[in-house]
Amino acid sequence: MQTTFLGKILHTPIVLASGVLGNNKAILERVWENGCGLPTMKSIGPAPREGHKNPTVIDLGNGMINAVGLPSPGYLNMEEEWQELSGRTFPINASIYGGSVDEFVRVAEFVSAKGPDFIELNISCPNSDKHGMIFGVNAQSSHDVVAAVKKVIHVPLIAKLTPAAPDIASIAKACEDAGADAICAINTAGPGMVIDIESRSPVLAFKKGGLSGPMIKPIAVRCVYDIFKAVSIPIIGLGGISTGKDAIEIIMAGATLVGIGTAVRYRGISVFDKVTNEISDWLAAHDTTMEKIRGAAHREV
Ligand code: DHB
Repeated sequence: MQTTFLGKILHTPIVLASGVLGNNKAILERVWENGCGLPTMKSIGPAPREGHKNPTVIDLGNGMINAVGLPSPGYLNMEEEWQELSGRTFPINASIYGGSVDEFVRVAEFVSAKGPDFIELNISCPNSDKHGMIFGVNAQSSHDVVAAVKKVIHVPLIAKLTPAAPDIASIAKACEDAGADAICAINTAGPGMVIDIESRSPVLAFKKGGLSGPMIKPIAVRCVYDIFKAVSIPIIGLGGISTGKDAIEIIMAGATLVGIGTAVRYRGISVFDKVTNEISDWLAAHDTTMEKIRGAAHREV
């Protein structure tokens, strides 16, 4: 199910969400071989960072809560990964983060020169006060970071937004005005907390964490719906998408591509092929196409 996205041909419209499977070429290639049109790397940061203590991820049945803590070797310490990835036969979306506009710019400029197909700005992580959603909840700071990064990179820029913003559509518009080529929505919701009542303490070592999986899908659908109304750049819709019907729903809200993260844990690595086939089957049964149903939920009935 070939799809063109910002001038690149992808073999399916399914994106691997950032952070789910790391940055190793072999694993990114495997998801691509299993029907993922665009694998996204785990966010790359300005300096070596260990991330939070265990436990960092807990399965809640209807989704997960995580506070991994943006672990990264730092952009200067990934030569081996870039070497391997330079010989790849598949597209990649490189996610990056920073603690200031200057840090975002430094990481972006360096990473852009390594030749990813897209750069995704993670201005929406719930698990770091300095590096996190502090940018993505404010239209001005979102605009500033996108505008500054856009000047130094040579590949399309995707802004990854948080549902914690009071008005995500205004953040998306600020990113579009600053030169973003696409919006990716949503990052994990919350943050939330889970308390173990026997030990009377939060279960995650970091105490709070981002929510993902089926429990956040209605938030993701609402966010994509609001963003679609506000911008004309394409949207990667994600947040709790596990099946072809979920994908159809978020496409009707306005998504061009559909991201999958937590569902990799629930349905295995073949989830990309499965969701692609489920989308095809639904479209065939309804005698329609992706293009015809995109944004369909916006039409007055
Ligand atoms: C982390 C980063 C994210 O952007 C997110 O949504 C969840 C977790 C992290 O590394 O902690």
